[in-house]
Amino acid sequence: MTLLSNFVVAALVLSAFALSNCFYMNNLSDRITKLVRSVHAEPNKSIAYERLAIANPTETHNKPSENHPESFKETTNYRDDKCTMAPQSRFDCARDRVLSKRQCEERGCCYAPLPNSVGPPWCFYPSLYPGYKLGPLTPSKRGLAATLTRAKPSYLPRDISTLRLEIIEETTGCLHLILKDPSSQRYEVKLPADVPKSRADNSDVLYTTEYQSDPFGFIVRRKSNGRTIINTTVGPLLFADQYLQLSTTLASSLVSGLGEHYTSLLLDLNWTSLTLWNRHMAPHAHANLYGSHPFYIVQEADGLAHGVFLLNSNAIEVTLQPTPALTWVSTGGILDLYFFLGPDPQSVIRQYLQVIGHPMMPPYWSLGFHLCRWGYTTTNTTRKDVQWNDLDYADKQRIFTFDPRRFGDLPEMVEEFHRRGIKYILILDPGISSTSPTGTYPPFDDGLKRDVFIKNVTGHILIGKVWPGPTAFPDFTNPETRQWWEDCIRGFHSKVPVDGLWIDMNEPANFVQGSMEGCPHTDLEDPPYTPRVVGGELNSGTLCMSAQQRQSTHYNLHNMYGLTEAYATNRALTKVRGKRPFVLSRSSYSGIGRFSGVWTGDVRSDWEQLRFSIPAVLQFSLFGVPLVGADICGFEGNTTEELCVRWMQLGAFYPFMRNHNDNFNAPQEPYVFEQEAQAAMRSALNLRYSLLPFLYTLFHHAHTSADTVARPLFMEFPTDPNCQTIDRQFLWGSSLLISPVLEQGSVKLTAYLPFGIWYNLHNGQPFYSKGQYLLLSAPLDTINVHVREGHIIPQQDPALTTTASRRNPFFLTVALSAGGWAWGDLFWDDGDSLDTYKTQDYCYVIFTAGQSQVVSDPLMLNGALDELVLGGLQVFGVPSPPRYVLANGEKVSDFTYHSDTKVLTVTKLTLPMSKVFTVQWAL
Ligand SMILES: *[C@@H]1O[C@H](CO)[C@@H](O)[C@H](O)[C@H]1NC(C)=O
Ligand SMILES: *[C@@H]1O[C@H](CO)[C@@H](O)[C@H](O)[C@H]1NC(C)=O
Ligand SMILES: *[C@@H]1O[C@H](CO)[C@@H](O)[C@H](O)[C@H]1NC(C)=O
Ligand SMILES: *[C@@H]1O[C@H](CO)[C@@H](O)[C@H](O)[C@H]1NC(C)=O
Ligand SMILES: *[C@@H]1O[C@H](CO)[C@@H](O)[C@H](O)[C@H]1NC(C)=O
Ligand SMILES: *[C@@H]1O[C@H](CO)[C@@H](O)[C@H](O)[C@H]1NC(C)=O
Ligand SMILES: *[C@@H]1O[C@H](CO)[C@@H](O)[C@H](O)[C@H]1NC(C)=O
Repeated sequence: MTLLSNFVVAALVLSAFALSNCFYMNNLSDRITKLVRSVHAEPNKSIAYERLAIANPTETHNKPSENHPESFKETTNYRDDKCTMAPQSRFDCARDRVLSKRQCEERGCCYAPLPNSVGPPWCFYPSLYPGYKLGPLTPSKRGLAATLTRAKPSYLPRDISTLRLEIIEETTGCLHLILKDPSSQRYEVKLPADVPKSRADNSDVLYTTEYQSDPFGFIVRRKSNGRTIINTTVGPLLFADQYLQLSTTLASSLVSGLGEHYTSLLLDLNWTSLTLWNRHMAPHAHANLYGSHPFYIVQEADGLAHGVFLLNSNAIEVTLQPTPALTWVSTGGILDLYFFLGPDPQSVIRQYLQVIGHPMMPPYWSLGFHLCRWGYTTTNTTRKDVQWNDLDYADKQRIFTFDPRRFGDLPEMVEEFHRRGIKYILILDPGISSTSPTGTYPPFDDGLKRDVFIKNVTGHILIGKVWPGPTAFPDFTNPETRQWWEDCIRGFHSKVPVDGLWIDMNEPANFVQGSMEGCPHTDLEDPPYTPRVVGGELNSGTLCMSAQQRQSTHYNLHNMYGLTEAYATNRALTKVRGKRPFVLSRSSYSGIGRFSGVWTGDVRSDWEQLRFSIPAVLQFSLFGVPLVGADICGFEGNTTEELCVRWMQLGAFYPFMRNHNDNFNAPQEPYVFEQEAQAAMRSALNLRYSLLPFLYTLFHHAHTSADTVARPLFMEFPTDPNCQTIDRQFLWGSSLLISPVLEQGSVKLTAYLPFGIWYNLHNGQPFYSKGQYLLLSAPLDTINVHVREGHIIPQQDPALTTTASRRNPFFLTVALSAGGWAWGDLFWDDGDSLDTYKTQDYCYVIFTAGQSQVVSDPLMLNGALDELVLGGLQVFGVPSPPRYVLANGEKVSDFTYHSDTKVLTVTKLTLPMSKVFTVQWAL
């Protein structure tokens, strides 16, 4: 459950720097001055000037009249060799605040207005802007190290003039570079639960590095072709207490990542900026949303790719410009940078996931269809069909309770679900009600005793306000909190044996700004520079930045709140249930895929949101969170039947499939629609359920090898330029291409099919693509899915629940290559035990097709496939009618061949899956 209405982005509010220590600056007061964007009257202003408004009227020396930019004509004769770069290669020198020409030049920057008010900055760094000087590079424990010093402090308050540079060659494809303050203990990110280190192999690294010593900058090149992938000499390195900045050129304009934002898969480099600051905010453009993932991947021109990860959890703003180039600005921490050289896109993701951790293996049942809404107000309503409950279940909206009147028989209902093979999940919000009479609400009383809550700056428990009213917020960076959380979950689970937990509102969301008492006025609440965030201030909609957590201040830890809660919840469920945990989180940070899936928040029931759900899901694939989906049919607002049908069809191919609806909206469960719509939805559901063995196998590869599940086309076909931009279609693994309808009223669509043979999954019709667009028919009952030649898809007959479908006979869809070959695999275990891969309690079977036969090769057989059979197969691309078909050498009579589509279908087999089998056809 989340806020009812979409928030309007409040007027963007920026802060000016405290400037007292900048000798060449105007005499602005030391006080933090709030600046409101776009109040300035001058229409021909630069982007910098657009940010300008003087909020403190006492600062008369900086009146707008003095502050008007010189007109364009007057300054075109500005001459300085260092200032002659093309406008698109300018790097903004007035990013932190608005500067007049004089102020700009006092910073030692170039000032040259342009005709346009948006786009390139008017105040920008000259080449070789003074910065840090690099000392000698010396061997260190982990690689090389050096000291950086600057002669004069930068223009930033609390500048740090000495830095330590560490260069570590982690692996062949991964370079790790750290810039930190050697003299003080600055905050550094610690990801929860150590990420298992893989064996380091850095024998033949894919990169070379070069260092410019004065001013300091570095260049990373791809060794194989000399391509520059990082060049930070284009702008100065800035490193002050609350402002860290690093610019680099980009090897191409094809950049993805830097979530979570409402955007296409490729980011817009036309002078845009993206803020990473977790915020409960319905998805819409130009807003920071629920999660932060300071990682990007660049597709290079020739199919190679690289990625960059800034391991920093402070508020981050990334500015993109068409140079192409990018500037990181962080409000704290250190610059802890990883460069992943791929060389192909999927390797980049693997290298990233070696740093942040591989995704968890989800329980099999969690890949089924989930149905949920806010507004199932009683168990009897929930009983009708449902597996999930929003906060409706809770007594006075307090978690770990259930309403005795409306949900009095919740335990019985859950037992009943379990008997029917249905699972039950409910919501937990982190806010713990703090005003129940002592002794009536143990989670708070116990939490108080065990000191688990976040404190305010004076050491008292910080009280905010969420659904139950005043609430305290658990500090999940404290080990005792994780234990308390586990105890709460254990207590509740002993009454209501939930199967999984849905953790919402964990940005964390707060209905009052900061706390019920407000926040103190400090540099943490009002930093010298605040990135563009919804609400204008960092503590808007969340806790005070000065709030104290075990590991550090909330200022530093905010973006990790959901991650730390997901870790605590995953760990608790594991211990309490002794089975594979299922956790779904709204807020996220790098590495959350190890503990949880993610959904994309409060999407609206409209076509645009349907369309943008694809890049949203694909971005989480890049972030190591394969278990992801959007709320099917939309959460906010009423859906329409057509939209809901199309959304169910696309949603059948979200790795995580849930229909979820807001309170008070018209119902959108499949059964409320007309027969025709229901049939279309049923068919999409059956298709998904039939594909679950394949999907589960993809999750196994994500877990063990950091492969992606929902996969952008560029990742699979990196050398095909047509695939670089596609985000209206996507793949499952390397072999299924999904091409959904995303427009109202459409019954056909243009889809791109990469080079090769693609078979229509519904009827086996082949299409021989030269790498081209194709007009596909897509009536309301159809979602187009194509199987790639050379692949074998393991499937099972669908059933009403995953519990039932798991016992059904398997069948194989074999998509022969032009040469008559195909390959596929199946990972299978009991679907619910912990660490089956580690304990080797699983089966792994390889299927190969060639020379008119399909053969299974069970490489690992530990129980789970006993008593399961192969019931049949369909072979796409069999050139001519077979004379006979043999299964394990015996003639079978139940087969058909369609000469128009060249599909051979064999049914009524009963070949044990746990043994080698062969199915042959004779031409
Ligand atoms: C800056 O302004 C303040 C207040 O107007 C004044 O007291 C101070 O002397 C000024 N400092 C300089 C360096 O001009
Ligand atoms: C901006 O300045 C140019 C040249 O001085 C002028 O022609 C134009 O009208 C101005 N634009 C606006 C919006 O005032
Ligand atoms: C790095 O950028 C600087 C400044 O634009 C440029 O002069 C230099 O050639 C670039 N170096 C490489 C290797 O691209
Ligand atoms: C970039 O943005 C500007 C201003 O919004 C617009 O005029 C221009 O056409 C855009 N350029 C590209 C390449 O999209
Ligand atoms: C649910 O429905 C049953 C049967 O109609 C009824 O006996 C029971 O009281 C209802 N439970 C609640 C909590 O309303
Ligand atoms: C901290 O919380 C206590 C108790 O609610 C309150 O009295 C105090 O004013 C708060 N301190 C700050 C700085 O908000
Ligand atoms: C949505 O549907 C509900 C229930 O049918 C109705 O009460 C509400 O007015 C509808 N809302 C809009 C915006 O049409």
